[in-house]
This record gives sequence, C-alpha cells and structure tokens, in this order.
Amino acid sequence: MSQNETPLFSGLVAHAKKNPVQFHIPGHKKGAGIDTEFRNFIGDNALSIDLINIGPLDDLHSPKGIIKQAQDLAAEAFGADHTFFSVQGTSGAIMTMVMAVCGPGDKIIVPRNVHKSVMSAIVFSGATPIFIHPEVDLELGISHGITNDSVSRALEQHPDAKGVLVINPTYFGVSADLKKIVEIAHSYHVPVLVDEAHGVHIHFHEDLPLSAMQAGADMAATSVHKLGGSMTQSSILNVREGLVSSKRVQSILSMLTTTSTSYLLLASLDVARKRLATEGRELIDKTIKLAQYMRSEINKIDHLHCVGEEILGTKATFDYDPTKLIISIKDLGLNGYDVEVWLRENFNIEVEMSDLYNILCIITPGDTQREADILIEALKVLSKEFHHLSGKVSAQVLLPDIPKLALTPRDAFYSDTELVPINEAVGRIIAEFVMVYPPGIPIFIPGEIITKDNLSYIQKNMEAGLPVQGPEDDEIKHLRVIMEHKAIQ
Ligand SMILES: Cc1ncc(COP(=O)(O)O)c(C=O)c1O
Repeated sequence: MSQNETPLFSGLVAHAKKNPVQFHIPGHKKGAGIDTEFRNFIGDNALSIDLINIGPLDDLHSPKGIIKQAQDLAAEAFGADHTFFSVQGTSGAIMTMVMAVCGPGDKIIVPRNVHKSVMSAIVFSGATPIFIHPEVDLELGISHGITNDSVSRALEQHPDAKGVLVINPTYFGVSADLKKIVEIAHSYHVPVLVDEAHGVHIHFHEDLPLSAMQAGADMAATSVHKLGGSMTQSSILNVREGLVSSKRVQSILSMLTTTSTSYLLLASLDVARKRLATEGRELIDKTIKLAQYMRSEINKIDHLHCVGEEILGTKATFDYDPTKLIISIKDLGLNGYDVEVWLRENFNIEVEMSDLYNILCIITPGDTQREADILIEALKVLSKEFHHLSGKVSAQVLLPDIPKLALTPRDAFYSDTELVPINEAVGRIIAEFVMVYPPGIPIFIPGEIITKDNLSYIQKNMEAGLPVQGPEDDEIKHLRVIMEHKAIQ
C-alpha cells in the first residue's frame, strides 16, 4: 500500500456510503437520534462515520483489516516495526510503555519532571521509580531533559532497571542527545521509552531533532493530535522489536483501552499519517520559516525575548524545535499568567501555556502569516503598555533534594492515610504529590519520607509566589501522610 492511501478513513466512508440499516450501537444511528442542534453543528458526515467495531470495520483490540492496514502504513511512515493507535491519548500510550516493561518491584529510570501518566503507570504496575534530576534553566525558569552523564550514572547504580524513560523533546521543544542515551541504555540491554508527546512532526524534517525511532529507541508514545493534525485524544505508540515484545504491548494497550473505540479519532490518525508522510516535509519547512520570522520579529520588541538556538550547547540542550516559541516576558515586569490573560482579553489570542516567566506559542502547518502578524502586533502593544514596569526580575528557580522512597508509590497509594499539620509532617511518609510548576518537578511523590529541608523548600517557593500544586489542602497547611499504626498494648 502507498502512503497516499488511507485504508481506515476510506473504508469508513465507503461503508457509510452504502447506508446500511444499523441495528447496532452507537444508538444515535448516523445522527438521526441525536440532539438536532448538535447534529446540525457537527454535520451528518461526521456522524455517519461515528461507528463501532462491526465485522467490516475491524477492531482496534485485535486488528486484522483496515485498522491493521492503517497501523502498518503508520509504522512505515514513522520508521517503527509496529505502530499502535491509541484513543486514550498519549497518556494511554505512556502507561502502556511503562507497564509493558515493569512489574511489581521492578525499577524504572525516569526524569523527575515526568508527566502524571508516568506516575500513574508506576502506581498501576507497582514499579519503583529511580529518579534523575532534569537540567534546570535558571535563566528561563524551565526544566530541560536529562543528560547522557546522568543516564550513565543511573544505569551504573541500577543496571537491573527495566527501562529508561526520556521526555524528548520537552514541552518547550528542547531535546537531549537521544541517540547517545539509547546507546548507553542498550549497552546495559535496557530499553528506552520515549515520551514524544511534543514531537510527532520531528520525524518528518531533517532540521528538527531526531525522532525516537530515528534515534533507535525501543518505544515512543507520540501525540499525533498535538502537532500532527489528528483529532484531540488520538495518539500512536511506536515500537521497535528487540528489547520489548510487541505482543505484550498490544495486550497491555488493549487492557487500558475502551472497547468502544472512536472511529472518528482512529480515522483522523490515518489521514494525519498520510499528510505527514506525503507532504510533511514541505509543510513543516514552511512552518519552521514562519516560526523563525516570528522569532526574529519578536526579538525586535523591547523587553521581550523569544528563545532561539542560543539555548543549545549545554549537556541537556542538544537540539531544539524552532516551531516552539518560548517568549520570555520576565524583563517586562509581568508574569506569564498576566500576559496570557492580557492577550485573551485584548487580542482574542489564546497561547499554549504560560508560567511565571514565559508564554509558549506553538506554530504548526495550521498557522499562516495572518496569525503570525496578529501575535507580533499584540506583543508590540503589550511591550509599550507595560514599558513602565520593565526591569530585570531574576528567575529564582531552586532545585529540591529528592527525598528517600520508603514505600513504592503503589503501596503508598493503597495505604490508610491521614491529614497532619505541615509542621508535624517531618519523618512521615507522604501519600500525595507536591510539585512546583514551573519547572514541574515534584518535591514529593507518594511513598517518600518528608524531610525538613523539603518542607522549607516548599515554604521558600510559596514565599516567592511560585505555584506549589498537588496537595488536597490548597493552602498547604496540612499534608496527607500514611497512617502509623501503634502497637496494641
Ligand atoms: C510531556 C507530556 N507527556 C504526555 C502528555 C500526555 O498526552 P495526552 O494529553 O495526549 O494524553 C502530555 C500532555 O500534555 C505531555 O505534556
């Protein structure tokens, strides 16, 4: 089959065109039984392919027909041995990766700033996390990836780890030397699992960082929906045979997946793959040029800085994706949240995200010169309007010590717990997450022993106005800890 074909999408359309009499779910029956306002808005075409795994339409849980053909084409496009479609987002694909290599008590090496789906999978599997500190950019107040040296050190100490998980590229588009990390891990026969939530497009352009499959990684959970043009919630899991078994991956993904898989989401993966494989390079080329134009225009605006290749050259910043615009606003005397709201209220612009020091805008083939100029214009007005506040604010990003793990996160999760005042919490085992975002590094994860130093780190962050998140008590006057059972007299 050629990359120009879309077996899944075309198969669905052909089926819908036959206009079968449907006595199966979904009960809205091509839209006839759905709310009229919604139907008129969504359109009959979309509703006609909102179908289910009847014989001719294959089954994601055991694909043999049009879903298998679509997955095989995706594997070819992404340079994988197998590609699995996920309708549970990249979160579902990440949980599958972790659970495919780890069982109860197994070790997995992970950066401390992992997405919550990694921690969920660690709880589900009963694995023990071995944390690596990501490099922190004190100037920008964000965390990058992990370095080759830290992966080497972690594997020297834990050669029995069942996997190394790498976030590549990061949310901000920065990537590590993934090829080298893969070489190091493979020298210990340890598979590399890549959280590629922010990197579906990098595979399709030589000026972007190496993709997980190009770097020789064993698995990659890749958000096609984020930057690759498919519908929200649709992702893929790419697998290289060797250190991991694709059969096990299929069965775990199936365990974590609804039996009522959305064919709209699946079809959108099929067409996104076609577009990336056949026109991706050209589209991404234009996107890079547009983003570079925006970067240089933004850098002409007083008090703003749009990060570019000067970020490269540290051990954790091996390469970067220029389609991510990290716009540092700290010299303007505002914080990122203020700017996000200001852009919404004054220019009807929605950014991807903001933190204390930056806003992040993503540029994709969906953008044109028009959107670029709207943002540039808005930022010029912003700079003028807040010029009087400008002054250098230093991004004081502190790094917490990683506490000792007394229980696996899973044992902590299933234990009896109680709330205690924070000043009585030292020495107790915490049952909840506490993190500062940015840079998104957990201070505590369930199962860790609370130390005085880490509590004062929380205090310092709160005093500095940094958002400490996670505990059920928002004011962080109390922490949830594992209940201690006193001996019966
Ligand atoms: C680094 C990272 N990994 C994983 C995910 C999860 O992706 P999804 O929302 O597709 O489940 C996200 C989502 O924002 C993310 O930022």
